[in-house]
Amino acid sequence: VVVAVAGWGAWAAAGRALRPVRRLDAELAEITAADPRRRLAVPDPGNETARLARRVNGVLDRLERSTVHRRRFIADASHELRTPLTGLRAQIELALADPADPELVDTLRRSLRDSERLHRIVDDLLALARLDSGATPDREPVDLAALVEAEVARRTAPVRVHAKAEPGLTVEANRFEVTRLLLNLLDNAERHANGLVEVEARQEGDSAIVEVRDDGPGIPHADRDRVFERFTRLDAARSRSEGGSGLGLALARQIAAVHGGTLRAADGALGARLVLSLPLAR
Ligand SMILES: Nc1ncnc2c1ncn2[C@@H]1O[C@H](COP(=O)(O)OP(=O)(O)OP(=O)(O)O)[C@@H](O)[C@H]1O
Ligand SMILES: [Mg+2]
Repeated sequence: VVVAVAGWGAWAAAGRALRPVRRLDAELAEITAADPRRRLAVPDPGNETARLARRVNGVLDRLERSTVHRRRFIADASHELRTPLTGLRAQIELALADPADPELVDTLRRSLRDSERLHRIVDDLLALARLDSGATPDREPVDLAALVEAEVARRTAPVRVHAKAEPGLTVEANRFEVTRLLLNLLDNAERHANGLVEVEARQEGDSAIVEVRDDGPGIPHADRDRVFERFTRLDAARSRSEGGSGLGLALARQIAAVHGGTLRAADGALGARLVLSLPLAR
């Protein structure tokens, strides 16, 4: 009898102790099903259950933030894709309405530009999705100085592009991605420069630094983080049919990050100054 009573006592005590956990469990089941903004009520502070409730609430906060972020990203992406699609459709309708129109060729050229723009946006979105998934692309030793010089030599923009690269800057990287990063910086610099773009590659400690500078209006201090967000374009007045979609710097920073490096906008003597840092290969 004594053993039975002691056993029952222990069972009842365990049941009492678990009651708050059961309540949390029931609340959590409701939250996930119904309202993503609801949180667990935190019981008496200080005990283990309260700590658990706070931790779960923290996870819910993060999930909600990421959902909001994702929703905005999808809305922005759809909006960005709709502009060239609308143009494309209008041009096809125009061409079909009067196939004998002598301006048909112009209409087709405009359609081609819009489809190229669509293609570029989809390519960038796919690249971002790939990088987001944490996939580490194939790497090989890449000579950054040689890459900078080769890409600069290929530029055909009306502005002067000047390269200064220290030899022997080898990084372990995906050549395609690092080239894409550099091209995004060069495209931006050429687009905003008055007449001169300078690219400098040098060693600093264990890192390879690549700076792309231009003599344009620069990036205002207040916007130096924002420009790396997806779909941010500061010169909103620029028509959407020309210029970019605001993915270039987001992609560039993500590429730097998967390689263990950083990309930031810094103070420039004249205009913009974008600074890439990548760990040197050992
Ligand atoms: N060198 C620069 N000088 C001045 N402003 C710049 C420079 N580089 C980028 N910016 C500003 O930052 C914004 C974001 O740049 P980002 O490269 O991400 O997009 P984009 O060039 O507009 O489009 P995309 O690169 O997708 O073709 C630009 O729209 C521009 O307002
Ligand atoms: Mg760009």
